[in-house]
Amino acid sequence: MADKEKCGGNPSAGGLDAVIVKNSLAKIKNKLVVMSGKGGVGKSTVAVNLAMALAMEGYSVGLLDIDLHGPSVPKMLKLEDEAPEAENDRMIPVSFGGLKVMSVGFLLRDPDEAVIWRGPMKMGVIKQFITDVTWGELDYLVVDAPPGTGDEPLTICQLLGPEAGAVIVTTPQQVAAVDVAKSINFCCQLEMPVVGVIENMSGFACPHCGKVTDIFSSGAGEALARKFGVELLGKIPIDPAICRDGDEGTPFIHHDARTATGRAFAAIVRKISGGSASK
Ligand SMILES: Nc1ncnc2c1ncn2[C@@H]1O[C@H](COP(=O)(O)OP(=O)(O)OP(=O)(O)O)[C@@H](O)[C@H]1O
Ligand SMILES: [Mg+2]
Repeated sequence: MADKEKCGGNPSAGGLDAVIVKNSLAKIKNKLVVMSGKGGVGKSTVAVNLAMALAMEGYSVGLLDIDLHGPSVPKMLKLEDEAPEAENDRMIPVSFGGLKVMSVGFLLRDPDEAVIWRGPMKMGVIKQFITDVTWGELDYLVVDAPPGTGDEPLTICQLLGPEAGAVIVTTPQQVAAVDVAKSINFCCQLEMPVVGVIENMSGFACPHCGKVTDIFSSGAGEALARKFGVELLGKIPIDPAICRDGDEGTPFIHHDARTATGRAFAAIVRKISGGSASK
């Protein structure tokens, strides 16, 4: 059997496939893909906390983790022991405080299991995450993408189409900006609007004296925003609470919303939502 048949076909194919995808997406008002050309810059942290912040504002939100080789969302929400329930050959997303969550991590028998899939298999799985998951009516679907511009970001961008928007995450170094620029060009080529750039790990405020140190130099977010004519959504400082909360499986925006970092993140969320979705 050809890979294409085995895996459910080309996500951008026409015919019945396209109709099923279109019908599934019609119930989702806003689609946001969190991506970056660089690994480890905080995409999953941003995706999880953005989804949670929107849910806390009363929006109906889905969080889809398409990092097939390194899904972080189950760990970041302490959902490692959860699995989606099946109903009429469809999957019901795992629930976390009002969020509807789906990740390949839920489908692995062992969290250390390596996913060894070629492109067509990945494309089929991501398409199923859209068509075979009972998301219901959503104000927002937030997608956590793996680093780079490979099969996973390409598949989700083709599936979601130009109605979706990309939230680009960078760290402040120019070395990161070189890779992250590729993601913005990738969006341009796919005609996916860029909602804006977030500069994460942007300086460290000493908890003792308050002095801000730019550990990773600075300015990549501004430079990217200027170069591509997109908005700099904001800067998130390095905050040990973010790392701790990620490891403990509690979104930091849930309980650290009043800290300087929490306020910086909330301002970014306001810019992204901008009253775009009615509840
Ligand atoms: N502003 C921050 N301050 C402190 N720690 C942070 C911050 N942002 C992210 N982290 C931590 O950095 C690590 C990497 O973050 P995360 O997993 O979100 O990155 P990623 O871009 O999704 O990585 P990958 O490319 O592997 O998917 C995590 O341990 C996270 O808790
Ligand atoms: Mg990640």
